[in-house]
Amino acid sequence: MAAVCIVGSQWGDEGKGKVIDLFAQKAEMVVRWAGGNNAGHTIRLPDGREFILHLLPGGIFKPGVVNVLGGGMVVDPWQFLAELDMLAQSGIEPEPGTLLLSHRCHLVLPWHRRLDRCREAGPAPGEDPIGTTGRGIGPCYEDKASRKGLRLSHLARPERLAARLEALAREKNALLTTVYGADPIDPGKVAADLAALADRLLPLAADTDRLVRRALSEGREILFEGAQGVLLDLDLGTYPFVTSSNASSCGLPAGAGVPPRTPLRTIGIAKAYCTRVGEGPFPSEITGPAGEALREAGREFGATTGRPRRCGWFDAVAGRYAVEVSGMDELFLTKLDVLSGMGELRIVTAYEGVRGFPADREAFDRVRTRTEPVASWSESLAGRQCFADLPPAARAYVARIEELVGVPVTMISLGPGRREVIPR
Ligand code: IMP
Repeated sequence: MAAVCIVGSQWGDEGKGKVIDLFAQKAEMVVRWAGGNNAGHTIRLPDGREFILHLLPGGIFKPGVVNVLGGGMVVDPWQFLAELDMLAQSGIEPEPGTLLLSHRCHLVLPWHRRLDRCREAGPAPGEDPIGTTGRGIGPCYEDKASRKGLRLSHLARPERLAARLEALAREKNALLTTVYGADPIDPGKVAADLAALADRLLPLAADTDRLVRRALSEGREILFEGAQGVLLDLDLGTYPFVTSSNASSCGLPAGAGVPPRTPLRTIGIAKAYCTRVGEGPFPSEITGPAGEALREAGREFGATTGRPRRCGWFDAVAGRYAVEVSGMDELFLTKLDVLSGMGELRIVTAYEGVRGFPADREAFDRVRTRTEPVASWSESLAGRQCFADLPPAARAYVARIEELVGVPVTMISLGPGRREVIPR
């Protein structure tokens, strides 16, 4: 297996957790490169236990796999340890040396969480709420970009840490109290809390970039685990209704510390229809009872926040864009089974009224979608073992997606279990 990159081709929630778990079985190293605990990767083990991972890479269940949180990530240290403790309660504990955090990771601090929630609760005039996960992700990346952030490596230097926290507190508390009317946060308490966590965190800190590069040069089996999806990428997604990191594979080199020319098999994960949580453009959205039926059939509720997901037709325009911009070699199509019995099925085939992929909300408002009706099927797909076993309409649906997005669908998932996957 060449190094594999798994990346969401829509607005996240494509079912990446299951695919990551599948590929982690063959991997020696699993590396996340962006985002934080805004992600929610659902992994169902063969014994039926289900876990939702927010920060830990998906190789954590397989003994011997090295799991890396890359330097492009933002890590909430409290949540990171809580996630480890949650797994430990189920008897899952990584062996020494198999869980590493880049010393470049930025830390999500209490100010970030509070600012995120204040902004969502009461956006400034002229600003729209984004519908964030409220985990402090955006404010943490803001501090990283303005070079005020705290890296994991800073935990090892308590004197410097205290000064940096004081400086952060001056600015953030002013914002919290004067702009949002919220309570300030005591930097002394944050420093003490972080000092108490440092003993557990620092032994896991490493120059993971070097380790990943070495593993690549040794030809090891590496799985790069994307979070969110191309359409939520800060630069390439539906700005400003995006996350604050480069969630597409374009963010991988910097986030994992490897050269852009690294040879990769890039697999885009696409749900057989589209969903999005939070605000923002969604050209193929289905409102009303049909959208609700799809939400119920697909159990479309957020893994991180429990929010109902908006549902829509498969959007081949956005799909093709995601494939092109992220260099996807193939698609892994998930949840095809959910479309059984849907009655009417459509695919968005064109955006009219705009040129290229829209860059802002106003351009999206001008989009008139052209949709194409496709034949539906009523049979359940449960237990189907191969592509030829699928009803002709389901096969035609997959073939049409391939034609429209321009890459082959190589695998299709028909249910949440590890075995419910068929090759194309
Ligand atoms: P943030 O990443 O919490 O700042 O949220 C920004 C936008 O990205 C919101 O619309 C969120 O709902 C969305 N988002 C962030 N992470 C995920 C994810 O893992 N799956 C789906 N949507 C996400």
